[in-house]
Amino acid sequence: MIHGLVLERHEQSDRKAQAAAMSVMDKAFDPAFGEAWNLSQLAGMMAMHGSWLTLAKLDAAVLGFALVRSIFDESELLLLAVDPGWRGRGIGSALLNDCIALARTRGIAMMHLEVRADNIATKLYKNTGFLHVNTRPDYYRGNDGKLRDALSYRLDL
Ligand SMILES: CC(C)(COP(=O)(O)OP(=O)(O)OC[C@H]1O[C@@H](n2cnc3c(N)ncnc32)[C@H](O)[C@@H]1OP(=O)(O)O)[C@@H](O)C(=O)NCCC(=O)NCCS
Repeated sequence: MIHGLVLERHEQSDRKAQAAAMSVMDKAFDPAFGEAWNLSQLAGMMAMHGSWLTLAKLDAAVLGFALVRSIFDESELLLLAVDPGWRGRGIGSALLNDCIALARTRGIAMMHLEVRADNIATKLYKNTGFLHVNTRPDYYRGNDGKLRDALSYRLDL
């Protein structure tokens, strides 16, 4: 983990935090897959009760973020992204573990997520203890026209 990395949690409609997340969003997601959200999608999700956005910051620079929604005792990791120039240094793991820790303190019983089968993030989720619970064949259509499976994972908290 990077020395000095700070994880900052935001709830409700914090425009500055949303803009910071968007600055990473635009760099982090490969346009080939069309997985990045736009600002209005992000703002809409953050306006919902039970959603939170965690920013990973080093000094003033925002290097990554995670977006989670929760309802009653269930949660879903919706997005996890790290600036491409800062990958492989533990920021993604730190964000994921912080979301898991916060969910636990809130009495949330499980965390779900869904990810494209050929995404390297599957390794991170498995290493963190998520169980593969379902496969949706040919679920995602990339901008390249190719179909890819979606994998659903669950972590009991
Ligand atoms: C997935 C993502 C958030 C990981 O962020 P990161 O900061 O690089 O992650 P970490 O450094 O904490 O690595 C965590 C684990 O992921 C795996 N991993 C991450 N990048 C990897 C790579 N390029 N090659 C192989 N394994 C990799 C490893 O298992 C690693 O653990 P290890 O170092 O103990 O082996 C980042 O790659 C990303 O932003 N991807 C684009 C957005 C995306 O697709 N998000 C997921 C779906 S929402």
